[in-house]
This record gives sequence, C-alpha cells and structure tokens, in this order.
Amino acid sequence: MPRSAVAIALPPAEFAAVSAQLAEAGYDAIYVETAEDLEVLLTKRRDIGVAILDGENDFDRTLEMYSLLHEEDRNIPALMVVAARALDRMSLAGKARVNDEYFTRPYSAESLRWRVEAMLIRAEIPAEDIRSGIIQTGSAAPTADSHRGQIVIVFNPKGGVGKTTIAVNVAALLQVRKAQRVLLVDCDTVTGHVASSLGMENVRTVADAWTEDADTGVTESFSEIASPHLNGVSVLVMAESPLHTEILDPRRVADAITAACLVYDWVIVDMHPDYGPLNQVIFERADKIIVPVTPDVPAIRAAVQLREVAVELGIRDRLAMVVNRANSGVSVSDMERTVGMPALAEIRSAGMLFVRAANEGRSAVERFPKEKVIEDLETLCDRMMATRDSGAAKSGQGFLGIFSGGRNTNPSMRAS
Ligand SMILES: Nc1ncnc2c1ncn2[C@@H]1O[C@H](COP(=O)(O)OP(=O)(O)O)[C@@H](O)[C@H]1O
Ligand SMILES: [Mg+2]
Repeated sequence: MPRSAVAIALPPAEFAAVSAQLAEAGYDAIYVETAEDLEVLLTKRRDIGVAILDGENDFDRTLEMYSLLHEEDRNIPALMVVAARALDRMSLAGKARVNDEYFTRPYSAESLRWRVEAMLIRAEIPAEDIRSGIIQTGSAAPTADSHRGQIVIVFNPKGGVGKTTIAVNVAALLQVRKAQRVLLVDCDTVTGHVASSLGMENVRTVADAWTEDADTGVTESFSEIASPHLNGVSVLVMAESPLHTEILDPRRVADAITAACLVYDWVIVDMHPDYGPLNQVIFERADKIIVPVTPDVPAIRAAVQLREVAVELGIRDRLAMVVNRANSGVSVSDMERTVGMPALAEIRSAGMLFVRAANEGRSAVERFPKEKVIEDLETLCDRMMATRDSGAAKSGQGFLGIFSGGRNTNPSMRAS
C-alpha cells in the first residue's frame, strides 16, 4: 500500500496552505485537531506515511499524538514544528531521531511539501508491514538508514595539512570508482579553492542563490544549486567573497546539508580552519570528521586541540585521523597515541601530483589513476564505506527521549 497520506495537526490557516501544496504533489492531506481524531484516523487508514505535528503551540496534545504514531506496531515518522530554541537544544545534543524531522516557524508551505516527500520516500515500505504481510514484495526494502547519505567533514584547525586535497580526491574516488553519488561542499568561505582546483570558474554559489531566492521566494536545495564536474561529482561553493556571507545562516546551511543526504550517498565538506558558529553546527551534523594530520609538531598540536574541543562538543567518537604525507617512516601508532585519535588511513606524499592535477582542473584520481597515492586514497574510501553509519550521530534517541530522558510513551510522564 503506498504511503501517500499525511495527517496534519497544524492551525487551520497553516493546514490550508500546506494541504494545497501536498495535494499538488498528489498526497492526501488530512486535518486532525485532537489526539482522538488522530487515533481514529490511524485505525481507519494504513496509508498515513507522515504526520505533521505542532510542538510549539500545544505541547501536551503533540506528545499524545507523537505516542500514537509509535504505538504497537506503528512507526510513523513525525515532522514537527518546534520553537527555534528547542531545535537548538535538540541538535546540541546531537541526537535527532533519524526518522523524525523538525522545523521552525516561519516556514514556507512549499518547503514542507519537499520535506514530506523526502520522508515518504524514505519511509516507503516499513519493515513491520512486510513482516505482517500487509505488503507483499519480492525484494527486500532498504531501511531508512541505508537511504541516508553520510556527512563527512574534513577538518584540522591548521592550514596546509591536506584538507582540500583529501576532500576533492575522496569525493572523486567515491564517485568515479565506487559509483557513489557525491556532493562536494566548499564551506571555506575565506580561502576555499575546491572549485578552482577542479577547473570550475564562476560557479553559482549558495550565497548567490539564497540572495536571489530572497527576491523570488523560491527556495532551492543544495542539489539544485550545485554545479556538476566532469567526473560526476556535484560541487557546491558557499560564497565567492568572504565579505558577503551574512545570508549563510549557519542553521540554514546545516539543514540544507542534512537535506542533501536524501539525494547523495556522501556529502563531503571541506572546512575553513576555525571554530566559528558555521563550523560548530556542521560538526554537530557530521557522521564522521576526517582529520588530516601531517607528521610535524604544529599539525599534531592542532589535532590535539581539536580532540579537546571535540570532547567538549560531545563529538569525539566521530573523529578519525588521516595521516597525510606519511612516508617519512613515521609510526602511525605513535601518531595515534600522541594525537589521541584512531587513524583511518595513511596517504603518502605525492610530490607535485596533486598540484599538477589541479592545474589541469581535475582530481588526481582521474589524472593519475595508477599512482600509489591513489591506492592510499582508495583504502581510505574503502574504510569510510566499511565504517559508514558507525558515527555517534546515529545512536540518537527519539523526540520523547530528548525531552524526558527516556523513551517513555506515557504523555503524563513527560518532562515539564
Ligand atoms: N599527500 C600529499 N602529497 C603531496 N602534496 C600534498 C599532499 N597533501 C597535500 N599536498 C599539497 O599541500 C598543499 C596544501 O594542501 P591543502 O589540501 O590545500 O591543505 P589545507 O586545505 O589543509 O589547507 C597543496 O599544495 C597540496 O597539493
Ligand atoms: Mg583548504
């Protein structure tokens, strides 16, 4: 049974706008006012794929409704409007439940339609329906998690350690050799040179697009703004000029990166070396943080500092070191001990190969496919693929867990 109906518990005016959008997309939008309404609806119809709840106006009613969505064998994802303040707290905990999603007011009905659509695609065939025989299907349904791409950021607070080189070449290798769909994001709004090192001049940036969007009222996703490189990677640049980045609201950027995971298998983010607000929200969303470290004291010191910051941010278990220019007889286990991070791979020093490839506007993966350093990069990618979904971002609790400290479905036991 297709999950094409959406239960909506929003105020009437918002319901009108949102249901019009959903109807246009071919979904049945059903208004529910009370938890009883929802209960009746859920027993009557098995095709409710998503419920839009209002966690801002009537929290008690919303908790009751949320419980109903997860009662017995049901597991219907909620798309919930929450106060901006609450959303901050939830993502600070880094524990957003994978199936549920959150948004804040003001929002556009059209953006909700897009999110509902994505949620319906992910939730298409729930495992319990297959087990209980409601849906007969020949092939196994992929789980929600196997659909969601991974956010991998490449970061070290020191410059020149190989962040951009690794981001560009890992993206190319995953796309070209591993047949993955990859979005490569240049989040370095100050010294970023991802696009130029791939020979892409004057690409449309997120700052450009969002400035236009503010006039037209149309919101574009990252996949729409990104430019395709010849190697198949979608390349996205945040801003061309470091002076005009006010429009890049950190949360909006992070939300857009998260949304891109529905379209891409990997979102690889090259970062500017700082601990500012933009980087902090992206850290929170990352499944893995690759930390290139060259075997020299300044780079090692910077990595130790990062480890300490990561402990404070509660993201230490997402860190993975990549020892770059690792051909000076340096012992990886010594580096691991000193830096206090496990090493995911080693990349040897490749002379001028990376520079030569960049001068030709290509990744070294395409330009020098037979070189040993590309084997190193392939090993790194194989390990990224083998350890995908192992990040701490995946061990989240549900909505109730965040607010009450446990998966308690009894609304009367909620936190006040
Ligand atoms: N393994 C390597 N072998 C040879 N040159 C490298 C290697 N890694 C990085 N480089 C070179 O080092 C310079 C700095 O690398 P880059 O990726 O720009 O560092 P970051 O982004 O951390 O500032 C670049 O010229 C790059 O080509
Ligand atoms: Mg760089």
